[in-house]
Amino acid sequence: MSSKLSLAFRKAASRDLPVLVQVYEDAFAEKNEATNLPQYLGWSMDDRDIRIIVAETEDKKIAGFVMTEFNSATMRNAVNVAQLAVAPAFQGQGVGRALLEQVEEAALKNEFDTVTLQVRKGNATARGLYDSMGFRVMGEERKYYRDGESGVEMKKYLSPIDPPKGFHLPRFVKRMMSIYV
Ligand SMILES: CC(C)(COP(=O)(O)OP(=O)(O)OC[C@H]1O[C@@H](n2cnc3c(N)ncnc32)[C@H](O)[C@@H]1OP(=O)(O)O)[C@@H](O)C(=O)NCCC(=O)NCCS
Repeated sequence: MSSKLSLAFRKAASRDLPVLVQVYEDAFAEKNEATNLPQYLGWSMDDRDIRIIVAETEDKKIAGFVMTEFNSATMRNAVNVAQLAVAPAFQGQGVGRALLEQVEEAALKNEFDTVTLQVRKGNATARGLYDSMGFRVMGEERKYYRDGESGVEMKKYLSPIDPPKGFHLPRFVKRMMSIYV
């Protein structure tokens, strides 16, 4: 685990909702993406394809959370990171990186081979984190965000061997590789 803090990770529970809303609002400050955030997070908790993982400090403070969409039918073999937020007091201490590592671990465990995400073009901190974790830019969508900022689509292939574009290793081969490599 890469965080400088001692963190525990667990699935979010309904009782966490007010804290998650606070963490999100503080993290995004002016650039608040979701207007109906409490409802959105509440619905997400009941959706079986969505998982919210929280990072908790030793004194049980929620330092950050990540929301992921797991749906092999609609997203092939990709897990999508829908939200990632770290409370300002805990930023820059490896929490975001550790949360993404949890996502990668869960993806592999569930036989998903790719993690995707969308990020604001100008979000240097988040893009620095994703770059350093091996995410690659796949494309850009102009005016993706409500305020007109472009969105950048990023992707990380999780298997030890990154196959050429358009080539997909069979699942059983990937499973064997994750055991032996
Ligand atoms: C983006 C965010 C999730 C990162 O979480 P974090 O816990 O602060 O990040 P970490 O400490 O795990 O990782 C920091 C890494 O980001 C990168 N980074 C940090 N600040 C950076 C900057 N100003 N420019 C470029 N890269 C930067 C570095 O790679 C750094 O790794 P290092 O410490 O090993 O050098 C957090 O800052 C946040 O919640 N921001 C507001 C909400 C947001 O933008 N969410 C992402 C939406 S896509």
